[in-house]
Formats: sequence, C-alpha cells, structure tokens
Amino acid sequence: MIRGLELPYICSMEQLLARIDGLKKEITAYPDGDAEAFRIMYLGSKGLVKEIMGEMKNVAPENKKAAGQLLNEFKVFAESKYDELKQLSQKRQQDNGSEADLTLPGDSVPLGTRHPISLVRNKVVSIFQRLGFAVAEGPEIEDDWHNFTALNLPENHPARDMQDTFYISNPVKGGTDWLLRTHTSSVQVREMEKGKLPIRIICPGRVYRNETISARAHCFFHQLEGLYIAENVSFADLKQTLYFFVQEMFGSTVKIRFRPSYFPFTEPSAEMDISCLICNGEGCSVCKRTGWVEILGCGMVHPHVLDNCGIDSNKYTGFAFGMGIERITMLKYQIKDLRLFSENDVRFLKQFTGAV
Ligand code: PHE
Repeated sequence: MIRGLELPYICSMEQLLARIDGLKKEITAYPDGDAEAFRIMYLGSKGLVKEIMGEMKNVAPENKKAAGQLLNEFKVFAESKYDELKQLSQKRQQDNGSEADLTLPGDSVPLGTRHPISLVRNKVVSIFQRLGFAVAEGPEIEDDWHNFTALNLPENHPARDMQDTFYISNPVKGGTDWLLRTHTSSVQVREMEKGKLPIRIICPGRVYRNETISARAHCFFHQLEGLYIAENVSFADLKQTLYFFVQEMFGSTVKIRFRPSYFPFTEPSAEMDISCLICNGEGCSVCKRTGWVEILGCGMVHPHVLDNCGIDSNKYTGFAFGMGIERITMLKYQIKDLRLFSENDVRFLKQFTGAV
C-alpha cells in the first residue's frame, strides 16, 4: 500500500439504514419545545440531515438510487417533525395570549340607534303608563266592523271618505271585507268588546291610508290612541290627561287649546293644538303664523260606539284621543319631511341617540 493514499470509504446500505434508524428514533423522541433549536440541530446548514446527506458520495454506485430515496424520505420526516413543533409552539403562544399586544386600543363595535319613531313612541307610552294606561295591541289587517262600523261609521257614511282605505280581498268569505286598519281605534273596539270595565288603554301601532307619498303624507304611519271608560268620566278628565301628556312631552311652558271638530265615534269632538315650539306662539312658518300647531284629535266616546261594543251607555262614559307619532316626532326634532322616517338613510337615523 502506498503511504498517504487512503482507500475510498464505502458506506454500505446497512450502515446507512442503521444511522437513519437511530436518527429517526432521536427525532421522534425530541421533546416539544424549542422548534428553532430542532431546526438548527437537524435541518440547519451544519445539521445532521445535511451531514447524513453527505454520505451519498460514499455509497456504491449501484446503491445510489435506493440510498437517495432513503435519504430523501428521512429529510421529509425531519421537516415534518419541525413543522409539527412550530405549530405546537404557535398554538401555545396564542393560548397564552403572548401574541396579543395588550396596549393596542380595542376594536370598536358599531352600535345601532333606535329609530326616532320608536324613541318617541316609547316616551309617549311611558307618560301614559304613569297615569295608569295599559298598552293594548291588535291586528293590522282588520275587518270592516272593527275599523268602521262599530265606530259609528256605517257603510256609505260620508265620513268614510276621510280615510282612504286599502281594501284586501278576503280569501275565505270573498268580497272586500278585509282592509289595512286606517287607525288604531280598531284596537279600542276589540278591548271594549271584551267587556271588562273600567278600560284605560293606549293603542300604539302602524296604520295605513291610501295617500300619495309626499313630505307631509305617507301611505303608512304610526298612531297612538287612548281610551278611558268608567263611570263619570268627563271632558275635564280628558283635558287634564292631555295637558299632563303635553307638559311631560314638550315642557311645562307649552300651552294647549281645543277646537271643536267632528269624528263619528266621539261626541263632542275636538282637535287639540299646542303652542308652537319653534316660535313660542309668536308666529313662524312651521305654525303658518298662527302660533299653534295641531297635534291630536279627541272627544267623548259616542254612546252608539259604547252600545255597539256591548257597554251600557247609560252607566258608562269615556274619552278617546288619537295622535300621529310621526307628527309628534317631527315637532320634537324639527323634522320637515315625513319620508325620512321610512327611507332608512343611516345618516339620518344615527343622529337619534338615547331616550327622548
Ligand atoms: N281615529 C282618529 C283618526 O285616526 C283619531 C281619533 C281618535 C279622534 C279618538 C278622536 C278620538 O284620525
């Protein structure tokens, strides 16, 4: 043998397999923990995978293909262990919250606001509840009896023209006996028919009228009507109740006045005005220079209505009133166009925050 000349080192397949097996066992047993330390030890540029890959050059030519496969498999094995360790450590960090920057300002959760109609309705309801009125509700699709006939508006009565009505064909009975209620007085009829006296209710709800949509009229809007029936109820009670409502709603300096009017279901009937909130009664465009704005209709329940609903009109008397919630809201917030309430423009709606 010539000195200094080393025989080439041949790595047998058995040796290679044994080394790979040993390393695989090591890797499998590698403790969960520092993924980066694992990477440096096995996958880094001076790592064990690289080192064993270097053995390729010592493999006999006829074994190179099989050895290449073995080594590649081993590399993939080590890489997948590394991925596993990385995922575990990421999860641990998330669980500890250590990734969250606690000094960052919180994400704001955008809150909606209540619709101005709801705000005002809630306020009106709460004022009357303090006077002992209970809330009553009824269907929006009504029959002719509850919406008109029981209220002293027999068929062909000229006053039916006062409320242009949406009629609906009745699929059961045929004909057009059904309609969309034109006022919540229909709920009052339903309550009176129950026959439990005394009655002290308010009926808030949506009503429908066949009107052309404009700044001042809409085909649907909201009403709140009231009814008080007991023995010896007088017009003075009506006046005082409404006066209390107005003061609570608009403030103690607001004045009221009653004007005679006509409704088929009340006798006597009146319309109530309040002194203009904009000009304090001095005259402006809102009150059309009169100093007063109309806010509701009212009166003493007509004896025919009591009789129609089975209440003894010799024993009981009552008062009723009805107001449009849109109108009260427009006065309260100085809104000039009724259409804004149903257009769902967020820029309009988000201005109304909190209770009235
Ligand atoms: N129902 C009437 C309307 O819708 C309002 C009203 C109610 C008037 C009660 C008088 C008494 O116009």
